[in-house]
Amino acid sequence: MSRVSPVETGRGYSGFPSRFLPHPVAKLSAKSSARTAYVCGECGAEYSKWQGQCGECGAWNALSQVVLEPATAAAGGPSVARRGGWAGKVDPPKVTALKDVSHAAETRVSTGIGELDRVLGGGLVEGAVVLVGGDPGIGKSTLLLQALAKMAAQLPALYVTGEESLAQVAGRAMRLDLPLDNLHALAETGIESILQHAVQAQPKLIVADSVQTLWTESLTAAPGSVSQVRESAARLVRYAKETGTAVFLVGHVTKEGGIAGPRVLEHMVDAVLYFEGESGSRFRVLRAFKNRFGAVNELGVFAMGDKGLKEVPNPSAIFLSGSSQQPGSCVMVTREGTRPLLVEVQALVDSSPLSNPRRVTVGLEQNRLAMLLAVLHRHGGVAVGDQDVFVNVVGGIRVQETAADLPVLLAVLSSLRDRPLSEKTVAFGEVGLSGEIRPVPNGEERLREAATHGFRRAIVPKANVPKSARYKDMEVIAVERLADALEQA
Ligand code: TYD
Ligand code: MG
Repeated sequence: MSRVSPVETGRGYSGFPSRFLPHPVAKLSAKSSARTAYVCGECGAEYSKWQGQCGECGAWNALSQVVLEPATAAAGGPSVARRGGWAGKVDPPKVTALKDVSHAAETRVSTGIGELDRVLGGGLVEGAVVLVGGDPGIGKSTLLLQALAKMAAQLPALYVTGEESLAQVAGRAMRLDLPLDNLHALAETGIESILQHAVQAQPKLIVADSVQTLWTESLTAAPGSVSQVRESAARLVRYAKETGTAVFLVGHVTKEGGIAGPRVLEHMVDAVLYFEGESGSRFRVLRAFKNRFGAVNELGVFAMGDKGLKEVPNPSAIFLSGSSQQPGSCVMVTREGTRPLLVEVQALVDSSPLSNPRRVTVGLEQNRLAMLLAVLHRHGGVAVGDQDVFVNVVGGIRVQETAADLPVLLAVLSSLRDRPLSEKTVAFGEVGLSGEIRPVPNGEERLREAATHGFRRAIVPKANVPKSARYKDMEVIAVERLADALEQA
């Protein structure tokens, strides 16, 4: 902690508002020892002492030491004046009635990529901080570079790269045929330098690739450690909020699928988007996991090609394998976010050599499958207790809503009996523990999507059936109990 802060030397920084300067840690810590805490890298829980296992999430060996900001500096810039300077006379905090707060409707800028706009809730909001997570090589840098190039035509933008060299970024932009004139890039990982540059250049959009490479001088912890990532991200978030600059943070994903480093990042930012896709498939799905400015679970669909990511205008078509007449397959209409999507669910039921047969899901929740199989036994009279059951959602997509219940059971039954469902059939509906088929939201919209794609038969919960029994050219079969549904199938 012997580093002398630039504030004290008075060199170089004099032109910038003091709130963007590094905190004068050296001076403060010389008198009082800086306050530290131990933070869990998995869930962000804080402890005053080190311990081997996190009491919140149960992760082992995940605690690391974090130097907390000195209290005076942490309060942040503009509040200094309000608090009556450093003399110590503090104004009482003021409570405001919300009706008196002047607020402009949030200004949104199109990213130039329709599917990205959709996931963001209709464009990028001024001052929003968006965390984009995903496996290495999934296409995060490609997507953001493409978006940045489109947006740079309207507003000053800056691409901060901590992982690739400027030559690599330029090479990629060239290969993608992006207009290079307005693209400004900075190869830098120190948050102080990045903010110093931002204060000078005043970009309205910053992409930081990746947040795990950022570090701040105010902490002695190694770059990449939880405390560095957390503090650097916090600094960028504060800058974004004070200046109205939109910021994209790229984040790596751990083996478990969460964003590596502190989960606290997810609390700090306005939106968390996950970029997903099956390895080997060229389709990529961008999903809003948290969004303060739009719907969660909204999906954007892209295809990776030799010219980067292309939007997929009709995503329903790509998630159907075309083999829906095979045993063990059922097409469902899911509605993740705000649009219906046709997705194929496949099941394989096979006699198990194990005393404890396997229940494996890809793209669905495993516990839900176990529950559904119990309902199938109890209320449908179909036993799979001695069978392995594998269920897969085609296309690397993840379905989280309960409308998948009925299609999953129909696919399981079809595989067990080795008989395909009738052709051009779709299904959706939640299955309750007492064997009832419950309605799901937006039934009519789902039926319309199925009809548009040429489906002739739909097995749906009774309450989701529109007034006329036939919907366009489609026969709509209403079911109330699981037994009815199995019979109809
Ligand atoms: P990248 O954006 O670097 O991934 P991330 O930043 O998430 O790690 O994407 C790299 C992958 O994308 C790499 O495997 C090559 C592939 N790719 C293409 O197929 N076409 C392209 O035009 C580009 C730029 C990349
Ligand atoms: Mg990258």
